[in-house]
Amino acid sequence: MMWVDKYRPTSEDNYVFPIGSAGDTLRKMLVRKNPSHLLLHGEPGTGKTSYVSVFCHAHNVDPFDQFTYTGGEISTVDDIRKKILETVTTSTYSWDGFRVIHLEEFEHISKVGSNALRSIIERAKDTVFILSVNNLDRVDKAIRSRCTTVEVKLATQDFAQLIRTILKEENVEIDKAYLNSLVSNNPNDLRFIINTLEEKYGD
Ligand SMILES: Nc1ncnc2c1ncn2[C@@H]1O[C@H](COP(=O)(O)OP(=O)(O)OP(=O)(O)O)[C@@H](O)[C@H]1O
Ligand SMILES: [Mg+2]
Repeated sequence: MMWVDKYRPTSEDNYVFPIGSAGDTLRKMLVRKNPSHLLLHGEPGTGKTSYVSVFCHAHNVDPFDQFTYTGGEISTVDDIRKKILETVTTSTYSWDGFRVIHLEEFEHISKVGSNALRSIIERAKDTVFILSVNNLDRVDKAIRSRCTTVEVKLATQDFAQLIRTILKEENVEIDKAYLNSLVSNNPNDLRFIINTLEEKYGD
């Protein structure tokens, strides 16, 4: 298994929260009884998809109540009807919880898809939508206004510990200067950093 999968956070204990108020908001959403819909934006490899797992874990969302689609998969009204509408109009698996619908690469949704989704987000019961995108500008304003928007951006000092843990776990001794240059040249992309380390030191 690749290191990025092996060390994908499963709970908040090994999740590196983004800097500033973004981190506070994401922490709060893990304990709120009725979390709002979320729009996560930020560079690749910063933990948007990982947050969805952490969120589902924190809220005990049944695996049968977790759905993921990419923007490209829900671009026609028919896709939206079959994949999203039918889902949100059936009961959740757990009687007192909610389902989570993660829409990844949301920037790839079509205008038609985005319009169809608007009203569904508003009417959906017992459903938390989490949208993730690299570029916020590509998201329709009407969709944005229905979500709490959070920028996912990491600080080096916050994930240094995670890197050390991974290297220790893998029994890797690493040149400090090399690690520092790797981290400072790719300050935001934890996926890239972990992959590069695995390429160099993994077996
Ligand atoms: N904030 C984080 N905390 C812990 N691990 C992280 C974090 N961000 C990234 N990682 C590591 O990098 C891998 C990729 O992260 P993830 O898939 O969450 O990125 P992403 O923001 O969804 O990227 P993309 O924009 O490409 O979808 C994870 O499996 C994990 O190993
Ligand atoms: Mg992702």
